[in-house]
Amino acid sequence: MRFESLKPQVVALLSKQEQTLTEKLTAICELLRQSIDYYNWVGFYFKNADKEELKLRAFAGEPTEHTIIPFGKGICGQVAVSNQNFVVPDVKAQDNYIACSIDVKAEVVIPLFFDGENIGQIDIDSHSIDPFTEQDEDFLTFVNQSVAQIINKNDF
Ligand code: SME
Repeated sequence: MRFESLKPQVVALLSKQEQTLTEKLTAICELLRQSIDYYNWVGFYFKNADKEELKLRAFAGEPTEHTIIPFGKGICGQVAVSNQNFVVPDVKAQDNYIACSIDVKAEVVIPLFFDGENIGQIDIDSHSIDPFTEQDEDFLTFVNQSVAQIINKNDF
């Protein structure tokens, strides 16, 4: 199973002492995007200090102009307030959606909890329709939990 073989690689990237958190997160984004063919854009958004908004921290794929997303806006902003996974099989069916590229057909956003608080999220865009399963959600939850283990309060 591909996700099982990726897990130790994610942990290894996070344990690189000489790298900053942003470098580690970028390396994870690149690993996931390269390893899973339907992951076309991978990014981490974090709560932006005390503001009611998310800020893009690391990504792999096409640059996006949506580097700041207010809470409640788009799929990402909704997850910032719902604290729940959001799987979107078909982005065209969503009213509250922020388009990053016309090629994107599906999206999944999984919240990242630190000390029980929703402080960010991993966001995957796909050019395939309805590609995500529970296995993606479980794997991405593992990724976020692994990130939570190596961050501290000064990181966001
Ligand atoms: N589609 C997201 C915006 C972020 S981009 O996918 C990079 C949303 O609706 O929140």
